[in-house]
Parts: sequence; C-alpha cells; structure tokens
Amino acid sequence: MTVAEHAAAGFRNEPILELRRAAARDSLLTALRELDERLPLSVPVLIGGDRGAAEGIDSTDPGAPHRLVARAGRAGEEDAAAAVEAAGRGFRDWGARPAAERAEVLRAAAARLRERRLILAALQVRECAKPWPEADADVCEAIDFLEYYGREAIELDRGRTLVQAPGERNTMRYAARGVAAVISPWNFPLAIPCGMTAAALAAGNAVVLKPAEQSPGSAGALVDALHEGGVPHDALALLPGYGDAGAALVRDPRVHVIAFTGSSAVGLEIVRAAAETPAGQSHVKRVVSEMGGKNCVIVDSDADLDEAVPDIVHSAFIYAGQKCSAAARVLVHEAAADTLVERLAGAVSVLNVGQADSFPTEVPPVIEREAQERVLRYRAQASDHVAASAEPVPQEGWFVPPSLVVGLPEDSPVNREEIFGPLVSMTRVRDVDEAMDVVDSLPFALTGGLFSRSPATVERVAARTPVGNLYVNRGITGAMVGRQPFGGNRRSGSGSKAGGPDYLLQFVEPRVVTENTMRQGIPVE
Ligand SMILES: NC(=O)c1ccc[n+]([C@@H]2O[C@H](COP(=O)([O-])OP(=O)(O)OC[C@H]3O[C@@H](n4cnc5c(N)ncnc54)[C@H](O)[C@@H]3O)[C@@H](O)[C@H]2O)c1
Repeated sequence: MTVAEHAAAGFRNEPILELRRAAARDSLLTALRELDERLPLSVPVLIGGDRGAAEGIDSTDPGAPHRLVARAGRAGEEDAAAAVEAAGRGFRDWGARPAAERAEVLRAAAARLRERRLILAALQVRECAKPWPEADADVCEAIDFLEYYGREAIELDRGRTLVQAPGERNTMRYAARGVAAVISPWNFPLAIPCGMTAAALAAGNAVVLKPAEQSPGSAGALVDALHEGGVPHDALALLPGYGDAGAALVRDPRVHVIAFTGSSAVGLEIVRAAAETPAGQSHVKRVVSEMGGKNCVIVDSDADLDEAVPDIVHSAFIYAGQKCSAAARVLVHEAAADTLVERLAGAVSVLNVGQADSFPTEVPPVIEREAQERVLRYRAQASDHVAASAEPVPQEGWFVPPSLVVGLPEDSPVNREEIFGPLVSMTRVRDVDEAMDVVDSLPFALTGGLFSRSPATVERVAARTPVGNLYVNRGITGAMVGRQPFGGNRRSGSGSKAGGPDYLLQFVEPRVVTENTMRQGIPVE
C-alpha cells in the first residue's frame, strides 16, 4: 500500500499520552491505585475456553520483589499438546472467515485495549518496571499492530497481479498456514506478543501464545481483549509457562509457523528444533525468529554533539537498556572522542535512577535477580574502564548503576556480547570506515545509529551497514508501526520486518492457479 492508501484505509499510529500534562499523569496514578487493589492478577492456562490452573508461576515487581503482580498457571507438555489440538479445530472456522471479518475482530480487540490503556500501562509499570512513557508507548504499539495487520490482511487477500497470456488465466492468492505458536519475551510485554499474535490471526491462522514467564499478567490482558473482540476460544489459546512449554510447541508436528522473539541462544535452538520433519508431519515449519543485538552508534568528527549526547543517553539507558534496539556501543571518531567522553560522562552521572512508577525516573531496575547478576558480571569485567556511573542506586529492587565504560579491548565480551542492561561501551576509531569495520565484525545486526552532517557519509554508511534498522542523527529506539518496520539481520533475526508491509507473508503460503481458458472463453482481465 502507498502512504495515501494507508491513510485511506484509516491507519494512523495511536497517539501517546502527553505526560507533561498533570491531568494525564494523574489519570495514570489513579489507574495504578486501582490496579494495586486488584493484585495479584490470576492468569490461568486457557485452552478452548477452559480455564486451567492459575498457579505455578509468580510474577513479581522488579522494583519491589515482595509485591506479587500475577499468579499464573505453569503449562507443561500436555497443555501444549491440548492447545495445539484445539487450535487445529479453531483454524477451520477462523481461517475460513473473510479477511475483512477477521480485521474487524482485531479492531474490536484494539478498541478494548484503548479503553483500558491506563490500567494496561500501570500493569507494565508493576510487572516489568517499565517507566510510564515506555509503558504507554508499548500499549499504543499493541493497538497499532492490531489496526495495521488487519488492514494489511485485507490487502494481501486481494492477491497479486500476474502476467496474463491469451487463453490462460493466472491468479496468485495467499492461504493461511494453520497453527501458529507465538513465543514472546517480557521486555515489550503487551506489544510484542500482540504483534506476532495479531499478524498470525489476521492472516487466518489459529494461535497458541506462550508468553514470557516474567510477564504473564500483560499477556493475559491481551488474550482477554482478543477473545472479547471476537476471536473464538479455539483459535487462540494462552499457555503461561517457562521455556519447556515453548519447546513443546516448537516440537509439535501439528504446528505450522513459529513466531519467536527473544534471545539469540533460544532463537537458534528453535530454528534447529523446528527443522525436524518427523514421520507424519507433511510440512516444513516456518520460523520467524527475532533475536538479540549489539547495537552501535557511530559518531563522526563533524557530528552535532548537542544532538548526539542526549540521543545516545536516551537510546542506551531508557528502560535500563532493556530494549532490543538499545545502544550498547558508541564508536566515536578520535577527533570528537575527548569531548564526547566528557559530555556523555556528565550526562550519565546525573541519570535519574528510581522506581518505574515515579515520573522523573529514567533508569528503572532490571527485570529480575538473574539479569542484575548478569549485568554486574559484565560491569566487573570492565571495572578498570568505568568513565561514569550514576550511583548510589536504591537498595530494594533489581537495580544496576547505569555506566559508561571507555577504551575496552575490541575482543572484550563487554564489546561483543549482548548484555541487555544499562551499560554502554565507548571505543575510539580512526574514522567512520574503521567504525563500520567494527560493526561488520559483530555477529548481530539489529539496529545502528550514525551522527554525521555529511550526506556522503550518511549514504556510505547506509549502503554498507548490515543492520536491519539504521537511524541517522536521532535516537535508535522507538520504531513505529508502519513508519519504521522493525527487525534485524544476521544472528539478530531471520524474519521480515514487524510492523511493515512484508510481515504477513510469513504467516501465509502462496498459491498460484493457472487455468486454460481456450475452450471456455477469453479471459477478460
Ligand atoms: N529482535 C527483536 O525484535 C527483539 C525484540 C525484543 C526482545 N528481543 C530480544 O529478547 C531478549 C530478551 O527477552 P527474553 O529474556 O524474554 O528472551 P528469552 O530468549 O530468554 O525468552 C523468550 C521466550 O522464549 C521462551 N523460551 C525459553 N527457552 C525456550 C526454548 N528452549 N524453546 C522455546 N521457547 C523458549 C521463554 O520462556 C520466553 O517466552 C533479548 O535478547 C532481546 O534482544 C529481540
């Protein structure tokens, strides 16, 4: 679709709340108080409308680990098998519905999320320690996915135009694949499970959703909205659980598509397991695997540092560096290096570290104890290179001091591995070409940034970079549905871009019909 066609189809990004207005902030705090009175939420295993157990997983507040946010079921292999069985039944009805009808259901689900947006944002604050602006944006993104993929499915349903020859009619249409297993991470607890689920459903598949064990409450709220919007219970099951439930779905021969977003280690394991074609499985599974990154921002000698410094700090530390798109490395031209270190160090040392429910907070705690230990381990490896750190941090909660480290050897694990926390590493380079060599040497290729005033440099970097999303003279997080289709290359992803025009193609199979029309008449196309 062209921009004009999108507009005509009525898609526009859901507007975020204006948090500078006291009324908007008050409405969120009221929602938080209401939510707190309802905690802990109960999130059962949900298969074909049957509500199973809601115990086995406790999801707690990363900022106050004694606070129980949700008590969820712990799905096992048998639940996974039952959910796939139900989804097989659900697919027959859901997949047979016209694309426009499915889109209408997704829009109704979007309306439910819109009505509840304040409480859903509050839930992310509590369950994942997501600060208010990020929590609000996450809810908006979830709404966008439902609205966008519904419209894209209608477009896709029209099929493609093929070359026609006399006496022959050629058509190309897209059919849903069948049962989709959706396996999601916690860091966008509503938007990411929503995006993958909405895409699969919009294209006519039935879905079994296995959300992250850290965020079952948000996933439960998503599934409720989709069911209330009209997705039949058989066409959408919820399996709160750990990795074993996800692995059982991946192995199930009745699953056709696996949509995964998470770490590279798990994604690669899924790709390997899904390649098996046991006896009785007559299809090859399609895997959409969106994985980790080691995102670099290049700062050239002519960069506008007034622009670069706040954008780098925001990209690296907002949500404690736990966005897959977050900046992990800064590669700075040696001519600008001293000034940039000084200015970044100043900005890092005054970062506001605090609880997610406090509006001024920039750096909240990380998601869990294991994450805190992991980030601190990496920080200890770089302890001789710390140029700035915002300390002390609160005692209660999984806090890590946000830090800037400078001048580590290139082969340090801090420079090469995904840390997923508030730790950014800066390296001096001779020039932009050396910076691009560093980017090229990494196994990841998710997002990247460039600060330069030279159009020729921008063009050169854009042509050479392997990353899926390059941001020039701006922050490198915050991709918007329809505006910045999002996803990585290399070990960062094997799928097409989420929130973009190719995404649904992964959930369908193309079918071409060629008809001899010689005897029956002349094709009119
Ligand atoms: N590329 C992207 O678009 C994108 C977006 C968000 C997050 N991420 C990545 O996600 C990671 C953070 O999320 P996480 O900690 O939840 O990731 P994770 O890989 O630990 O878990 C993701 C999901 O996989 C499940 N899982 C774990 N082991 C499994 C197995 N063997 N088989 C099947 N499923 C299994 C988990 O239970 C969870 O639901 C980071 O690496 C981040 O970069 C990538």
